[in-house]
Amino acid sequence: MNDKVGFDAAQVIAPLPVVLVGCAHAELGLNLLTIAWTGIDCSDPPAIHVSIRPERHSHRMIADSGCFTVNLPSRALLRQVDLCGIVSGRDGDKWRRAGLTPLSGTAVAAPLVAECPVNFECAVKHVVPLGVHTMFVGEVVARHADDNLVRGGRLDFSKLALVAYVNGEYWSLGERIGTHGFSGRERA
Ligand SMILES: Cc1cc2nc3c(=O)[nH]c(=O)nc-3n(C[C@H](O)[C@H](O)[C@H](O)COP(=O)(O)O)c2cc1C
Repeated sequence: MNDKVGFDAAQVIAPLPVVLVGCAHAELGLNLLTIAWTGIDCSDPPAIHVSIRPERHSHRMIADSGCFTVNLPSRALLRQVDLCGIVSGRDGDKWRRAGLTPLSGTAVAAPLVAECPVNFECAVKHVVPLGVHTMFVGEVVARHADDNLVRGGRLDFSKLALVAYVNGEYWSLGERIGTHGFSGRERA
């Protein structure tokens, strides 16, 4: 451990995805917020978590409705992504303010973000209060993508211009530098 030092930051893993999360509530209507504390938790059944602070307007909406959507933004949506992470749905219609369009989910009662090229519909299976964040683990019950992105049933990420979140900054991704298992193929 020579030359290693400790540090304080909470943002210990990078890069993280940055996603728009859609939610709905019988009394509060539709909302969306930006989330970086997210990830895949299980392949089968497919599960994704989002970790949300209880003081967020969306927290109660997801806790009560038992569902949410995860929407992957492209770089062209960065301004909207940032805006949805600094204003609250408590203070007005964030969809209108961001110029984003809610689409009805096909399997859950939460809205998809039409402008996002990839969307997942999730049914909450676990609610884990962890401290300042609550982790909602959702089973993916439907998924959607813009038709120009799907080839042979798989997503073509080269067309997606994804955005990463790194310690308070947004980064674009560079070029592809390898494929899963390439080191084994080199050895063979
Ligand atoms: C890039 C980015 C990432 C964020 N990640 C999270 C997160 O993982 N969890 C969280 O609770 N809030 C996160 N936020 C803050 C919420 O998006 C923000 O407080 C939002 O206004 C909450 O909206 P609401 O009150 O309408 O639910 C993030 C904000 C930004 C800009």
